[in-house]
Formats: sequence, C-alpha cells, structure tokens
Amino acid sequence: MASPTLTITDNRTGKRYELAIEHGAIRAPDLAQIRVAPSEPGLVSYDPALLNTAACKSKVSYIDGERGILRYRGYPIEELAEKSSFLETAYLIVKGELPTTSHFKMWQRNITMHTLVHESVRHFIEGFRYDAHPMGILIATVGALSTFYPEAKHVTDLESRRVQTRRLIGKMPTIAAFAYRHSRGLPYVYPDNDLSYTGNFLSMMFKMTELKYRPDPVLERALDVLFILHADHEQNCSTTTMRVIGSSLADPYSAVAGAAAALGGPRHGSANEEVVHMLHEIGSADRIPALIKQVKAGERRLMGFGHRVYKNYDPRARVLRESCHEVLNELGIKDEPLLDLAMELEKISLNDEYFISRKLYPNVDFYSGIIYKAMGFPTSMFTALFAIARTVGWVAQWTEMIEDPDMKIGRPRQLYTGSPRRRYVSLDKRG
Ligand code: CMC
Repeated sequence: MASPTLTITDNRTGKRYELAIEHGAIRAPDLAQIRVAPSEPGLVSYDPALLNTAACKSKVSYIDGERGILRYRGYPIEELAEKSSFLETAYLIVKGELPTTSHFKMWQRNITMHTLVHESVRHFIEGFRYDAHPMGILIATVGALSTFYPEAKHVTDLESRRVQTRRLIGKMPTIAAFAYRHSRGLPYVYPDNDLSYTGNFLSMMFKMTELKYRPDPVLERALDVLFILHADHEQNCSTTTMRVIGSSLADPYSAVAGAAAALGGPRHGSANEEVVHMLHEIGSADRIPALIKQVKAGERRLMGFGHRVYKNYDPRARVLRESCHEVLNELGIKDEPLLDLAMELEKISLNDEYFISRKLYPNVDFYSGIIYKAMGFPTSMFTALFAIARTVGWVAQWTEMIEDPDMKIGRPRQLYTGSPRRRYVSLDKRG
C-alpha cells in the first residue's frame, strides 16, 4: 500500500514536506514547519467554525453525514430508541459498554440518589424574576452547583469525576423542573425516587395536588425515547464548548453551564422552540410558499432544517417523524394541525431546488417540538429537555478528554488582520 503521507510543495520556497496521515487526517501542528524563513511564522490552517478540523479523537458517537447514520458507542440509535431505556443508554455513553443487570441496578440507584438538590439551590432559583426563561435559570443554576461541590474542581481525580457525573445526570431534571415551576409560580415538586428517570421528571413538572403522581406510561416512554435520541451527537457546538471550558481544568458544573448556554442558541438546541413558533406564525399550508420565498431570499432560515454534518435525512428526525404519529395516536390526539403543517412544509421543501442543491433535510429539532407540545410541555421548556438528555454526552466527552493523553488547553490560533504597530497619541492631541 502507498505510504499514508501527504507531500506538500511550498511554492514560495520550492521546498517539499512529507506529513503523516493518521485516521484520515494530517496533524495541523505539522504545518508549522512550513515557513518562508526561520524567523517567519510557520503555516497555520484557517478554519473558522472548524468546518474541516478534527479537534479530538473520540469513541463516544459516530456520524456518517452522507448516509444519515448515528451510533452511540457502535450501537445504531434506531435500535437503542426501540429497545433501550434512557438510563441504560446513558450508562453506555458514559462507560462505553451496555451494563450487566447488576451494574444497571447500581447505576440506576447511583443516579436516583442524586436527584435532590440542596435547599439553597431552591432559594437561588426563587431569586429569578417571575417570568424568567427556564433555560436562563437552568444555565445559571447548574453553574452555581460548583459552589455546593467545591471538590468538583479535582477534575483529574477519577472518583470525583464519577460522582459529579452522577450528580449532573441526577440533578439536571430537578433543576429544569424547578425552573419551570418557578416561571409558572407553581410550588416546587421534590423528586419521587419510586418513579423512573422520566416518570420522576414528569412528576416534578406536572404534579398538582394529588398525593402520588402516576405518570402516563405513553408519555414516560415517549420522553425516554426523546432523551435517548438527544443524548449525544459528536462534536457539536455545545459539546465543543464543554470540551474547551473543561480543557482549562474548570470544574464540570461550570463547563456544563457553558455547554448549556451554547445549546440555548437558535442555530443549535433552541431550534426546536423556534420550529413551533415558525409553524404557529405560518398558521396554514397556503402560507408555506411565502415562507419558502423569504427563506430563499436569505431573509430567514427554515428552522429545524439543515445540519453541518448530515447531508441526508437526520436519522433522529426519521425516528421522531414516525413516533410523532404513534405518540399522538396513543395520546388519543386525532388531529394535530401543527404536525400536518410540518409534514406539508417538509414535502414542499424537499422538492425545492434550493433545499435539494444545499442538501437541507429536516433535523432532530423539526419534529421534537411537535411531540413535546403534544405531551403538554410548554414551548419554553423544549431546550431544557434537550439539555437534560445532552448532559450525558457532555460529561462522557468531558471525561474522555480529561483521560486523553493528547489533551491540552483549547487555544486556537488567529490570522491577525488589524493595524500594524501604531504610536499612541494622547487624547488632548487627537482633536
Ligand atoms: N434554511 C435555509 N437555508 C439554510 C438553512 C436553513 N435552515 N440551513 C442552511 N441553509 C443554507 C445557508 O444559507 C447556506 O446557503 P448559501 O450556500 O447559499 O449561503 C447553505 O445552506 C449552507 O449553510 P451553512 O450556514 O453554511 O451551514 P452550517 O453547516 O454552517 O449550518 C445549521 C448548520 C444547523 C446552523 C443551519 O443549517 C441552520 O441554521 N439551520 C436552522 C437552525 C436549526 O435547525 N438548528 C438545529 C440543528 S440540529 C440540532 C442541534 O444540533 O441543535
């Protein structure tokens, strides 16, 4: 076989360089040896938004964007969504293997025992304005957890990492539910550890005066599937944020706060909220052409469409599209105008040259909001639901990074395009 190297000729100097290729990549630092003169800076690669730069090696999830494939630790997400539970998938993502029965029981117990939050966390949440958006509360509160667990700063200690991982997975639903109850002026509901992970979350969200909340098994399973589908997704914007913050050896609560903040943007995790707003705004199928016209004119984006990696149907969207109908049927919802509208919008877009030529397909956020809505979740909670599930991926990727011998503090280079050296002129002489 030909040697796995890349030969580069620098036409400025005529020199040739041979760079090693490993895992289909050259190492960008190898470019630094390419320079016009020893005193000149070496060559760098310019890649804003890291379009074609692998920033780490990872074993957590695998995406084939051309073929629309997503696997966690080698398992196709379709199979996990059908056969696994969220907590089992969480174990798989964090630990790398599916658990044995006894390991699963221990994992379940270990997560469940961390569902409560310190009473001061509740008081902290009470300090927010009555109408604060749940995502803002979630981001701030998860960051504040670092003050409750100062030992979390020992990020190189394996046992500490394990405890913070369980705490984060256990407490995110509690904080998210408290954030919702606060924004509605409802009393907080404490965790009920007799219930499943998603059953308990539904209880903390929706329990009213009943002594014991009994989650609807259809809702419980549907939420479990949604959480499985959102649990990890390679080096997306929020996971990259988690890794970059974590690379300074900051504690994981601060890093998750940063990751959640990145998730909260409309181009990332809050697209699910935006999809529902967009569908409400169009209202009826006859207004779809006007929307498409605006999108094609570059005036706005079709929310829930497009993806950096998928140039085919997002496999998560495919599962959700099917389960949308099932969930609505099982909930006895005969007619959901938003779903009909979404399907019509999808049909029109997928046949339009603008979307075909750019390979723009529905992504996970296109259908998830419709299911969340049918399940009774308020729109403002959609991204928080995403954050609960994605916490698993964030902590798994953070741990993988800390354990990676290649890890260094995240610190990209820049191409300086500002002024050359200038002399300072004092204010009184500037006129
Ligand atoms: N509507 C209309 N045009 C689009 C869209 C869209 N949703 N997405 C991409 N394009 C166009 C874009 O204008 C550009 O066209 P041109 O080449 O003529 O300039 C081309 O497609 C490539 O777009 P890009 O911005 O270079 O692609 P990207 O990989 O940087 O962005 C994205 C990916 C997800 C941010 C983008 O597709 C987008 O803004 N989508 C809408 C928001 C959304 O649904 N986000 C959820 C992503 S999936 C879940 C998650 O990770 O959170």
